[in-house]
Amino acid sequence: MTRSHSLVALVAGLAFLGYARAVTLEVREGNSTCIKAELSASLSITYNTSNATSTAQVSLPESTTVDASSSSCGSNASFPWLVGVFGTGHALSLGFSTNGSMYNVSNLILQYNLSDPSIFPQANSSSVVTVVLTSVGIWARVNTTYRCISPASVTAAGVTVTFSDMKLEAYMPGDDLSPTESVCVADQVSTTVPPPPVPTTSPTPVPTPGPPERGNYTLTNSNGTVCLLAQMGLQFNVSFMSASQNKTVQELVNLHPNLTAASGSCEASSATLVLMQERTTNLTFIFTLNSTSNKYYLSGVTLDAAWPDMTAPFRASNTSLDYLRSTLGRSYMCSAEQTLAVVPAFTLNTFRLQVQPFGVSTNQFATAEECQMDQDQMLIPIVVGAALAGLVLIVLIAYLIGRKRSHAGYQTI
Ligand SMILES: *[C@@H]1O[C@H](CO)[C@@H](O)[C@H](O)[C@H]1NC(C)=O
Ligand SMILES: *[C@@H]1O[C@H](CO)[C@@H](O)[C@H](O)[C@H]1NC(C)=O
Ligand SMILES: *[C@@H]1O[C@H](CO)[C@@H](O)[C@H](O)[C@H]1NC(C)=O
Ligand SMILES: *[C@@H]1O[C@H](CO)[C@@H](O)[C@H](O)[C@H]1NC(C)=O
Ligand SMILES: *[C@@H]1O[C@H](CO)[C@@H](O)[C@H](O)[C@H]1NC(C)=O
Ligand SMILES: *[C@@H]1O[C@H](CO)[C@@H](O)[C@H](O)[C@H]1NC(C)=O
Ligand SMILES: *[C@@H]1O[C@H](CO)[C@@H](O)[C@H](O)[C@H]1NC(C)=O
Ligand SMILES: *[C@@H]1O[C@H](CO)[C@@H](O)[C@H](O)[C@H]1NC(C)=O
Ligand SMILES: *[C@@H]1O[C@H](CO)[C@@H](O)[C@H](O)[C@H]1NC(C)=O
Ligand SMILES: *[C@@H]1O[C@H](CO)[C@@H](O)[C@H](O)[C@H]1NC(C)=O
Ligand SMILES: *[C@@H]1O[C@H](CO)[C@@H](O)[C@H](O)[C@H]1NC(C)=O
Ligand SMILES: *[C@@H]1O[C@H](CO)[C@@H](O)[C@H](O)[C@H]1NC(C)=O
Repeated sequence: MTRSHSLVALVAGLAFLGYARAVTLEVREGNSTCIKAELSASLSITYNTSNATSTAQVSLPESTTVDASSSSCGSNASFPWLVGVFGTGHALSLGFSTNGSMYNVSNLILQYNLSDPSIFPQANSSSVVTVVLTSVGIWARVNTTYRCISPASVTAAGVTVTFSDMKLEAYMPGDDLSPTESVCVADQVSTTVPPPPVPTTSPTPVPTPGPPERGNYTLTNSNGTVCLLAQMGLQFNVSFMSASQNKTVQELVNLHPNLTAASGSCEASSATLVLMQERTTNLTFIFTLNSTSNKYYLSGVTLDAAWPDMTAPFRASNTSLDYLRSTLGRSYMCSAEQTLAVVPAFTLNTFRLQVQPFGVSTNQFATAEECQMDQDQMLIPIVVGAALAGLVLIVLIAYLIGRKRSHAGYQTI
């Protein structure tokens, strides 16, 4: 049985291998090309059948096309992505990043659809699986083409991606691959091409971002009524292992509301808000309502991040938190910056926050309960006002006493 499974897989694989030519993929914005890749890739994917595990071998087919909607040339807030799609819901995505002198493939994501019987015969699941691979070792100088004829493999979670005959360039200065090449180490051994000169500039310090933009996120029930309201600016303070610096770095990263989609669910005593920025950042809030005390609070925060320069995807989760505490029927507000410690490697900074995860009616925030910091800030003008009033009173009394004295003085003369 297992043997016949693998035979089917092999035949399916060979059918694809027959077309294992280099595919050319290009990401364009307007009239100019920013990423171009000519490559062959073979994929080895281990999956479960009802009884055993099986391995599918496929090559990236010639019919692979660039998905224009999820590919991009990148911007200040996002990284360039080349997303090649093939078959029924399979995709190979390459995410790039640069430090000014070098660029690299910082993320490689393989998505495969187990309900495709031509690749995954007898799979016992029909789900779409996403595997994130990092540190794929594709580095080149800016304005040069990365070239690697020799096969190079990366493996994670039962998946092996093997590239060969690869030429690619991101952050392209022109519409075609640059004539200057950065040749991979494996090719240098066989062809004795001199290694590319390594630039000797010192690493630039990561700039500290300003306060994050305020986002407006809502969730609706299945019957279409708004059940959760949130307005806030969010900033991640994360420490992770940097691939380019080979050490743990501390980075502040803002969530960009423009690029963020909200989803989640509202239950009677628990509400979940998931904020997803592109494919690389996934932040989950869990709010809990205690129906005895009629108080709600932020009980859980989870962050999944696959940012450029991370040596591995970052995941941090804490589900025994007690933040943003307020009363059912009220919203929680904190205009001042708040620091929510989640785990030692991750704190979340919130700015101009107002949330209401329960008891939303008429699509609007109910009366707010303000955080202590805001109340303290409101106290300052009151204290100053009271002090001024006191001062005026003292001056007035002193004046009255003085007047009385001088009056008395006249009488003695
Ligand atoms: C793209 O190229 C066409 C023809 O070469 C030109 O008419 C058009 O203005 C260009 N568009 C942009 C956005 O550069
Ligand atoms: C196969 O099944 C095992 C055991 O249930 C599970 O841990 C594993 O994630 C499954 N593999 C895939 C590729 O779905
Ligand atoms: C499970 O595998 C055994 C042999 O390993 C085979 O005899 C049996 O029929 C399989 N069961 C199913 C449901 O495929
Ligand atoms: C698929 O098979 C694996 C073992 O091969 C098993 O552990 C897993 O639970 C099965 N999944 C489903 C959805 O049946
Ligand atoms: C997965 O494959 C099935 C069957 O070929 C298809 O109906 C489904 O739309 C595919 N899923 C995705 C996300 O493309
Ligand atoms: C790359 O080429 C562009 C345009 O030719 C130039 O502006 C840029 O300075 C170059 N960058 C590097 C790092 O050489
Ligand atoms: C860019 O990264 C490369 C590879 O880690 C490093 O050698 C180089 O010094 C870095 N350059 C800058 C300007 O940070
Ligand atoms: C919508 O459904 C929720 C429960 O899911 C219920 O509490 C609410 O009254 C419903 N609203 C309307 C307008 O039907
Ligand atoms: C980020 O976290 C580090 C370590 O926890 C801390 O020293 C630093 O002050 C934090 N920075 C900000 C802006 O919150
Ligand atoms: C990273 O640093 C460790 C120890 O600090 C060292 O053993 C390792 O060789 C370094 N790796 C690279 C790629 O420089
Ligand atoms: C978000 O979108 C608005 C309007 O579409 C734009 O003005 C703003 O610059 C964008 N912000 C970012 C970070 O892209
Ligand atoms: C709910 O609040 C009551 C009263 O403050 C408290 O005794 C109880 O432990 C709380 N329940 C949970 C699940 O936190």
